[in-house]
Order: sequence, then C-alpha cells, then structure tokens
Amino acid sequence: MVTKVLGILGSPCLRGNTSDLLDAALRGAAEAGAETERLELARMSLRPCMECRKCDSGASCVQKKDDMQVIYSRIRQVDAIILASPIFFMSVTAQTKQMIDRCQCFWVQRYVLKQRIYEGRVRPKGLFISCAGSPKPVVFEPARHVVKAFFAAIDYEYAGEVFLGYTDDPALAPRKQTALEQAETAGKMLFS
Ligand SMILES: Cc1cc2nc3c(=O)[nH]c(=O)nc-3n(C[C@H](O)[C@H](O)[C@H](O)COP(=O)(O)O)c2cc1C
Repeated sequence: MVTKVLGILGSPCLRGNTSDLLDAALRGAAEAGAETERLELARMSLRPCMECRKCDSGASCVQKKDDMQVIYSRIRQVDAIILASPIFFMSVTAQTKQMIDRCQCFWVQRYVLKQRIYEGRVRPKGLFISCAGSPKPVVFEPARHVVKAFFAAIDYEYAGEVFLGYTDDPALAPRKQTALEQAETAGKMLFS
C-alpha cells in the first residue's frame, strides 16, 4: 500500500522560505517512497468556524460547501501531514488558524465520543515547519502549542518540527540551506 503525505502550506506567500522548507520535506518523504500532495490554504476557499456547536453531537461540520471538505477527507486518508506556517504576530497565520478551528469536529470525535480517528491503521504523524523574522527561538513557542493541539485533535502523533528563525538576516543563505536539509531529512524520517 502506498504511503500518503499531505503538505499544507499556511503561508499567503506561495514561494517564500516556508514554502521552500515544505517542498524540501515533501521531497524527503517522496524519496522515502511516499506519494505526496501540496495544498495551499491561501488559494482555497475556506470559511471560519462559526461556533454553532452542531459538531458537538455529530462530530462533523455543518459547513459543507467550501474546500474544507478536501482537507477533511485527506486527514482521514493520509499517513502524515506536514503543516507549514510562518509566524504572524506570535502565532500561525490566519489561513492556518482558520483551517485548524474547522477541525473542532475531529476534537469532538476524539475527546467527546472517544473514537480513534485513524481506526484500523498505523497512527498518522504530523510534522510542523515554521519561519519567523525574529532571531529569538522563543518566537516559535505559542505556534508550537497551537500546532500540537491541532495534531492531537486530529489524532496524529506530533513527530517533530523544523524552524528557521531570523529570516530577515541578510546572511540567511547558509542557515536556510541547513534548514532545507533538516526539512528533507525530517520528511524522510516520517517513515523510518
Ligand atoms: C503580518 C505579519 C506578522 C508577523 N509577525 C511576526 C512575529 O510575530 N514574529 C516574528 O518573528 N516574525 C513575524 N513576521 C515575519 C515573518 O514570520 C517572516 O517574514 C517569515 O519569514 C515569513 O515567511 P516566508 O519567509 O515563508 O514568507 C510577521 C510577518 C507578517 C507579514
């Protein structure tokens, strides 16, 4: 059976540092034999969670007419997700957070109905990739909590992270090269 990896780009900048790191991780996963797909949230039609609480009983979202349907079905199918978002105001981007909030229905399934989401399969894995302008490593902390909560809600194992800080650095190139290599290795290691 083919292993499937979904890359989700949460950056509105489709060819920036975060995008490059995501592609490196997907390349690593492909080298390890996985079938890969990249979704770009900024090009998708996604609505925010309206807190209608209907998923409290059904464990599914009542909003059926946007591109979350694609993401819902992939979450239930793939073996790993690589979520890539830069840091915007100490957190993930609005596009990323909107997608995460719409996964409250998985949280209900997992923690209220107490059903495993990956039933009958090996537990899927989640890798987090992020970039930030600040040189301080602490800048990634709040987003790390958000993304760990996301992977827990969709019942994925948090398998690691690759961070590239101080992207404003005029001498970024060698550190970026190192981060690209780390991302490629992390993508490969998802199935080691
Ligand atoms: C709206 C906005 C908010 C940002 N907030 C932060 C921040 O809180 N901390 C930080 O270190 N960098 C912040 N940045 C800088 C980005 O994280 C940084 O430029 C990153 O490299 C962008 O990702 P990219 O290189 O993939 O485009 C912000 C950038 C934007 C546009």
